[in-house]
Amino acid sequence: MNKTANQMLVIFGASGDLTARKLVPALFNLYKAKQLPENFVVLGVSRSNMTDGEFRKKVVQESTYLKDKVKDASLDFINTFADKFFYEDLGEDYNKVYNKLATRISDLNNKFSTGENYIFYLSTPPSLYEVIAKNLSEQGLNNETNGWKRIIVEKPFGYSLETAKKLNIGLQTYFNESQIYRIDHYLGKETVQNLLVTRFSNSIFEPLWNRNYIHHIEITNAESVGVEKRGGYYDKSGALRDMFQNHLLQIVSLIVMEPPIDASAQEIRNEKVKALKSLRIMRDEETLYNNTVRGQYLASVIDGKKVKGYREEEGVDPNSKTETYAAIKFFVDNWRWKDVPFYVRTAKRMPTKVTEVVIHFKSPHHQVFKNSDMNNKDNQLIIRIQPDEGILIKFGVKVPGQGFTVERANLDFYYSNLADNNVMDAYERLLLDAMQGDATLYARADEVEAAWEFVDPILDYWKNGSDVNIYGYSSGVWGPTNSDRLLEGDLKWRNPGENLADDPGFCVIK
Ligand code: BG6
Repeated sequence: MNKTANQMLVIFGASGDLTARKLVPALFNLYKAKQLPENFVVLGVSRSNMTDGEFRKKVVQESTYLKDKVKDASLDFINTFADKFFYEDLGEDYNKVYNKLATRISDLNNKFSTGENYIFYLSTPPSLYEVIAKNLSEQGLNNETNGWKRIIVEKPFGYSLETAKKLNIGLQTYFNESQIYRIDHYLGKETVQNLLVTRFSNSIFEPLWNRNYIHHIEITNAESVGVEKRGGYYDKSGALRDMFQNHLLQIVSLIVMEPPIDASAQEIRNEKVKALKSLRIMRDEETLYNNTVRGQYLASVIDGKKVKGYREEEGVDPNSKTETYAAIKFFVDNWRWKDVPFYVRTAKRMPTKVTEVVIHFKSPHHQVFKNSDMNNKDNQLIIRIQPDEGILIKFGVKVPGQGFTVERANLDFYYSNLADNNVMDAYERLLLDAMQGDATLYARADEVEAAWEFVDPILDYWKNGSDVNIYGYSSGVWGPTNSDRLLEGDLKWRNPGENLADDPGFCVIK
């Protein structure tokens, strides 16, 4: 276990949902696992008027998000955790002189000996990132002469390439790149990190991981929920900005990248940037038409319950053209991946919640068992990111009896079968990494920009293109059938079920 230095976590936007829903439960897990440093303080900062006690009640003692986690803990244990929390009201505006805040930070530091090591977690709208960074720097709170200073920013990191660049320049004016941690919670998922291990610690996979053996790659990210209460945000964002530009392109970069020299943050992130830069950018309308499909969910009845269409959701423009479904086909222009198509889909209101990567291998180049129905049944390596986390290999076996009839069999591994299967929650892992100064699982400025570089022309085409459509799909189905046109030849999307080993198209009626 790495040692975590004494420190203070200052959360901006502390009265918001993310603090109570994700950050505090993650901190509680770390507290339970004895992973918090001996001297540790959380200072919540926002514009609500609250006392320390009220803040503790809100995010710890009376938080619905902690209920399950604290149910077996003693009152003493919970209160010792709650006592680490303090609150500072910024008043009306984030853009003000932070001298009062700086004094509070300094007082808490002196009282609790946090070594002037501070993490500033910005859980605020991105429009405030630069303002907060500037005001912190004016108080010398970026200065690392005594103790380190780190700043964590949440997505969305920019709205386009241009805005992302501006934001990077803005933040880097006040903090060094090595102090900036851009969070992408998918990188905190154990199964996403396992992509690296699967590839680079198994000599049975890596030699096959290229255009000679791989036919195509498919990534599906499906959610059964709609936009829930985030219509206002989502309508300005859409699936491509919300999921694809960040989480899915992060997964793509781990699949595409070359082996790093070692497992350091610098080397891994260098390779990821190279991978993202090798995605072939689609520039002309014909290419964009042929390789992208967007859709929007419509009202439907699921399991006997009426669900709203996207345009009827709260905060959504009734004439909105924002996509809740995005399917993109693309190629990677480098030696390893030439001509291998990548198919990536993400959507809301799908039949189930699932994220998986499917590596489809080429058929054997000489078919020995001609009369078997092996054709069109490729070998597949299915990497299940969530749920039912695990890995499945589909391969051919002989059906017992005369002749050579070949059938598909499954070889599977489930995380839940591991003796030590305590999978850290993504935020827990990422917070601990930042507390220890490990930025491997955080996105670097050039990574974020490379991802936007690929996404920008698609967004522009979807907004301004002459022949671009948005297709409706009923809530609860696998998106618009129009997306089938992206697939080459006889290919079909693998529509995964709730369980890793379910056959495609598998559907449970409740
Ligand atoms: C967030 C998106 O980043 O990821 C949400 O803003 C989405 O729209 C969520 O629901 C999905 O995360 P997970 O971990 O549940 O797959």
